[in-house]
Amino acid sequence: MRRLVAPALLLLLVACDDEENLVPLDFSLNRMKRQAAYRDFDPGPGFPDGKVLQQPPPGSVPRERAVVPTALTLGLDENGAYVERIPIPLTRELVQAGRLRYERICGTCHGTLGDGESEVADKMPFVKPASFHDPSIRAFPPGKIYQVISFGYGLMPSFSYALTIEERWAVVAYILALQRSQNARLAELPPHLRQRFESEVR
Ligand code: HEC
Repeated sequence: MRRLVAPALLLLLVACDDEENLVPLDFSLNRMKRQAAYRDFDPGPGFPDGKVLQQPPPGSVPRERAVVPTALTLGLDENGAYVERIPIPLTRELVQAGRLRYERICGTCHGTLGDGESEVADKMPFVKPASFHDPSIRAFPPGKIYQVISFGYGLMPSFSYALTIEERWAVVAYILALQRSQNARLAELPPHLRQRFESEVR
């Protein structure tokens, strides 16, 4: 046994030797916190005016500035009003893509039908997820729904991290379809669907 302990001890001692480390070992493990870095408003030696924060060079463009039409990125027209139409081509594929995202993300709270009925909603005692068939929400212009998805609203978080701009519009398109599905008039149906409805329901 002793014969085994001695080499093990030697190994341990070698592992503890910090002579090889360029920076002495910091056992408090706080090195990330205590870095030699300047903070925004500290004085600093790097620039002629002795400040850390510098004016951006003339002509700099803020990263957040919209460089494409705000209708697409913010759901707002040039006067700052919510857009009344979806600003990308409305195709069957778009609505189907919207359905997929809706059912994976929004439906968990707002319900598959968009009526605010879901298991998650049952467990939210204070503010329930809205029903998209509520007259006040039915009156939302598409741009407003887009903004809720992008920036969140009240207790609802933003979903911009999970949906690209195009996917957000796809979800808006699907919500409009859901709203129609629960409020369609017979006269609005294409003739073959109207006939089918009349033969099956009446
Ligand atoms: C975690 C649950 C949850 C998810 C997921 C969720 N919502 Fe909501 N949503 C809420 C709640 C709660 C409210 C009500 C917030 C409030 O009134 O404070 C709400 C409100 C809304 C409203 C109404 C906002 C208003 O101005 O009254 C819209 C529109 C909406 N959500 C759309 C969506 C869409 C689209 C998605 C999917 C991208 C989504 N929500 C995902 C919980 C959720």
